[in-house]
Order: sequence, then C-alpha cells, then structure tokens
Amino acid sequence: MDTGFSAYAAEIQRLMTERTAGQPLAFVRTYGCQQNVADGEKIKGILGELGFGFAGSAEEADLILFNTCAVREHAEDRVFGNVGALKSLKRRKPGVIIGVCGCMTEQRPVAERLGKTFPFIDLIFGTHVLHRLPEMLHQVLANSQRVLLLGQEETTIREDIPIRRDGRSRAWVTAMYGCDNFCSYCIVPYVRGREKSRRPEEIYRECQGLVEAGYKEITLLGQNVNSYGKGLEEPVNFAELLRRLDGLPGDFRLRFMTSHPKDASQELFDVMAESRHIPHHIHLPFQSGNDRVLQEMNRRYTREKYLALIRCAREAMPDVSFTSDVIVGFPGETYEEFQDTFSLIREVEFVNLFTFIYSPRPGTRAAEMPDPISHEEKTRWFAELLKVQEEVAGKIGQRLVGSRQRVLVEDRDGKTGLLSGRTASSLTVMFPGEDGLIGEFAAVEVTEARGVSLRGRLV
Ligand code: SAH
Ligand code: SF4
Ligand code: F3S
Repeated sequence: MDTGFSAYAAEIQRLMTERTAGQPLAFVRTYGCQQNVADGEKIKGILGELGFGFAGSAEEADLILFNTCAVREHAEDRVFGNVGALKSLKRRKPGVIIGVCGCMTEQRPVAERLGKTFPFIDLIFGTHVLHRLPEMLHQVLANSQRVLLLGQEETTIREDIPIRRDGRSRAWVTAMYGCDNFCSYCIVPYVRGREKSRRPEEIYRECQGLVEAGYKEITLLGQNVNSYGKGLEEPVNFAELLRRLDGLPGDFRLRFMTSHPKDASQELFDVMAESRHIPHHIHLPFQSGNDRVLQEMNRRYTREKYLALIRCAREAMPDVSFTSDVIVGFPGETYEEFQDTFSLIREVEFVNLFTFIYSPRPGTRAAEMPDPISHEEKTRWFAELLKVQEEVAGKIGQRLVGSRQRVLVEDRDGKTGLLSGRTASSLTVMFPGEDGLIGEFAAVEVTEARGVSLRGRLV
C-alpha cells in the first residue's frame, strides 16, 4: 500500500547514508499515557516506511525521538533530564538527529524553552502534525535546518498513517482523540485539542485486522471514551461501538479506557454484561471522594452519583472489578476532605489505584488556586492512601485464592522468572510455565495472594 509516506523514502535514505554507514536506525522513547504509546507506534510506522530500522537504545541510533508527556511536572522534568543527557552523545556523533515531540511540545513556551536550553535539538513538533514527519525530517537533512512545527490542528482524522506495533498479542486502537472536559487541574485538553471520534467502520476495520493477525487483546483508547460519537455523521455512541466490535469472531478481549463517570451509562454496563469479548472490568477514575473538591476539579459528578454508577455496574455484572485514578492534595483540599477519598476507596474496593500528588500545570485553572498544604504534608497523605489501598487489595487478593482465572500471558517477570499474565478483572497473576504460553490465554488457579500480587499454577 502506498500511503504517501514512502514518497520521501529514497531521498531521506540517500541523505541519511551520507551520515551513517548502513541502514539508519531510529530510537523512539515514549512517555505518558497509552494515547502517547499509540502515537509512538504511528511515528515508528512512518519511520519504517522511510526505511529506518530500530535501535534498542539511544546510543546506537541515528535518529532519537522523545515522545513526551505534560500531565505532571515530574514527567516534564524527566524529559529535560534525558534530553540534556544526550549533549555528549551529540558531540561524539554530530550526525545524530535529535527530536522532541508529544504533549510537552504542544505548549509553545515549553517547546521554546526546550529549543533554547538544548541547541542540539534538530526537530520539535506537536501531536497534531506527526503525519508530517517525512517532510520535517527532509528539511532537517537537506537544509541542515532546525524545524519547529506546532499547533495546526487538523479538522479531519488521518486514517492512512502506518502503525508499527510494539506488542504481538496486545494492541492499542484509538477510538477518539482530544478532550473537551477541562478538569481544572488537567493540561490534556490544551495539548490534545478538542474531541474527535474516528468513524466506527475505521475502528471496526482496524480491530478486525488485529484479530485476524492473532492479537488477543485490543484496548480502545480515548480520554473519555463515553463521549464517543459526538460530531459523527452516523449517530453511534460508545455502547453501540462496543456492541459492533463485540460481534467480531475470534478469541480476544476487548478493553477500553478511560471512562469518565459523568458520561458512563447503564447502556454501557448492559452491553458489557451481554458481551462475549469485553472483560467485566472498568477503569473509572473518581479523582476525589469529596463533593466540594470534585466541584472545584470541574468533574461534573458527585460522590453519590459515582457510587450509584458503581451500584448499577455491579447489578449488571456481579463480578465486575474497578480501577481508578486519584489525585492527592488538590489546591485547597483539607485533610478532612481527603478522608472522603479513603472512605470511597473502602466502599468501592478497587482492585488497583493509580495515585498522583497534585502537580500544578501552568495555564490550567487549578494552577491559579491557593494551595496552602506543603508538599511534605501531601506526601504523608499519599503514603496513607497507599496503605488504605494495600489493605483493600489484600482483602480482594485473599478472596481470590483457590479461584480459577483465565489469564492472558504477557511476559516473563525479570525478578522471579515466573510468567506474568492478567486476569479479566485486570489483576496480575504470576506462575511457572513455558515461554510458548506468552501471548496466549491460560487457565490458572490462584494459590497465594500478597496484596493483589497473586501467585498461581497452571491447571
Ligand atoms: N482522561 C482521563 C485521565 C487522563 S490523565 C480521565 O479523565 O480519567 C491521567 C490521570 O492523571 C488523571 O486521571 C489524573 O488522576 C492525573 N492527573 C491529571 N492532571 C494531573 C495533575 N495536574 N496533577 C496530578 N495528577 C494529574
Ligand atoms: Fe484531563 Fe479531565 Fe480530560 Fe481526563 S477528562 S483528560 S482528567 S481534562
Ligand atoms: Fe501525558 Fe499527553 Fe497522555 S499529557 S497523559 S501523554 S495525553
């Protein structure tokens, strides 16, 4: 298939071989969420069409790209650190091309600061223009020019970008781009732009191809998949999209993330309950258990509404499990309000939590709010939160001992040498077994639980 990306291939190959011996190698390092991982796979897809091979490390590469995340300060600091560390590499290997892309660069002041701090960066581009990588690269190579390309949001979704997937059994499929929610703490709507849904038939075709190629797990991606379908010609909501994809033949799991509680619906739970391929697990971030904090966060649901959703989901699927994201120390949050987060965790019993200390993001509304609690204090709250979750996880783990689980085997754990797989409820089980099982489903009996870290044996 000629996707148009290979048009530059011969010229780029010629220019690259002036700098390197043999096939040029690229190294793409991705930070942040699955959306970024999916973008990284597209960037690698394009580079593959341009004739690049792939290196296992930055040291071996002729083109190094950092695909960045802006969601917390720590994520940005890491990128500054890691790009800075390439200074001596660039001195030793002046022909190497260094680029920075992803969410960080969508904030113009940050992109400019990156360019100024690190004069050896050749290429800076945003998330909305990654399909223009061939011409940007050509400009860098042919004119020895530094390229900075940002913004310029496309109105249509490019469906012709090749994808070079990292995994052979698990795949990411974008259902929608962007976010319209503007939670007051969050940078994502500013760097990813407005919500745009892919046409259902494009998603169907991609999933069909994956199942036919033997993929065992497909995860549909979007910052708020429950608002899927807005603006499509054909009115299809997320539940309907799932229903259609669930009709695909084959043995595979269909997951999705992230669900926003304000848009999760009974229809969604019903489709999950009736489906053949969708595990009974929902990632449903609540962020805070306190109504005042939720309102300040602009989450547009209350604690009661959240708990009602959990009840509805459990009624539809008695075996459903939940995971969630939580923010600790939102500006103005008191310790008393934070107790409501604990009680919600105990009430729902999440199998896993992704916990974050609030990080101010310039340009967001929360960054302007008074934030009197010190970082040390928030770190103590955070530690308490982990303890509460450990306690909950321990209870869930104990209940699973003796049960039989169907797991998708993902890889071999480096530390224990055991195989590691995931249950339908998104829990990890480790057990002894052969390499041949990696990428396959296996039946495992849970023999032991240390928190939610489960051990088992093949049955
Ligand atoms: N769209 C998803 C989340 C995307 S960002 C949703 O709405 O659930 C992933 C998580 O990062 C968020 O759920 C939130 O818990 C956390 N997060 C986002 N901005 C943050 C900030 N400024 N400080 C700390 N955590 C943040
Ligand atoms: Fe950020 Fe809220 Fe959008 Fe999630 S829904 S990406 S937290 S603004
Ligand atoms: Fe980070 Fe961008 Fe995802 S800011 S969390 S990589 S959408």
